[in-house]
Amino acid sequence: MSADVRKALFPLAGHGTRFLPMTKASPKEMLPLVDKPVVQYVVEEAVSSGINEIVMITGRGKRAIEDHFDISYELEDVLRQKGKLALLEEIRKISSLAEIVYMRQKESKGLGHAVLCGRLLIGDEPFAVALGDEVVDGPAPALLQLVEVFRKVKGPVIGVQKVPKTDVSSYGIVAGNVIGEGLIRIDSLVEKPSPAEAPSNLAIIGRYILTPDIFDILEVQDPGVGGEIQLTDALRILASRRPVYACETQGNRYDTGDKLGFLKATVQFGLKSPDMGKLFRHYLENIFQKGDAMEAGKE
Ligand code: UTP
Repeated sequence: MSADVRKALFPLAGHGTRFLPMTKASPKEMLPLVDKPVVQYVVEEAVSSGINEIVMITGRGKRAIEDHFDISYELEDVLRQKGKLALLEEIRKISSLAEIVYMRQKESKGLGHAVLCGRLLIGDEPFAVALGDEVVDGPAPALLQLVEVFRKVKGPVIGVQKVPKTDVSSYGIVAGNVIGEGLIRIDSLVEKPSPAEAPSNLAIIGRYILTPDIFDILEVQDPGVGGEIQLTDALRILASRRPVYACETQGNRYDTGDKLGFLKATVQFGLKSPDMGKLFRHYLENIFQKGDAMEAGKE
């Protein structure tokens, strides 16, 4: 088994029901943050974490993702003819960002099942899992933070962040013993617990480094919460067989598969945009000033 993490699996085959009707015919992973689709940020994160072989698990209605990472001869020709060379260069780079292969999950049977679909392509080596609708904007790429922990502990590592206790039922929640700064050896994992049942407020954030023994567990995994084959349930079994770790990941995390999460990410990335940020900030300040003036007028 390779000692380093060279491959990442992106599960992209969910229905995206929280974002309907937008997701009826378009993948939520193609929603833009300013001018790049969310999934491109996640691919760039993997590449800057030293991972450039990516297995994308797709499903019906997700073709736009494949087209985005493919070469677009016509578009390149148009840009060349118009002399838009900087844009041409940017577009060309997307198709050579990483080595990407695609596998279809024929039915949306859950995140655990989507991971299992990648078994043949991942093979017998450790691999990263990154959800294509979650963006982490931090001091270092989120996957790199986990890869660095993996190199030390040589076992599965799950990215986590603290969430308000009232929100735990939207996440997989972990708990365990703190063994280092931001490093926990996990002794319990629960998918979407009620606040009363939650063993902590440490939520799984959609970034993992896994070892191939997870596949044997997923192969025989029964459906869990929501009738889906849950990765969290398989990880609980894995944690009963070998040490599994959680790493408190640094950075602002946005779940863009959630409408409010997407709006927050849009505002943050808009404000940070080198060419748009100043104008956007000015625009927002104006809106709030007008709002304040209207509020004051009411009194
Ligand atoms: P979500 O819980 O976000 O589910 O899945 P979803 O179907 O995409 O969205 P909602 O909750 O209905 O709005 C977590 C991740 O697992 C992938 C999704 O694409 C998402 O990145 N997934 C989920 C699969 O690839 N296959 C599945 O069967 C389920």
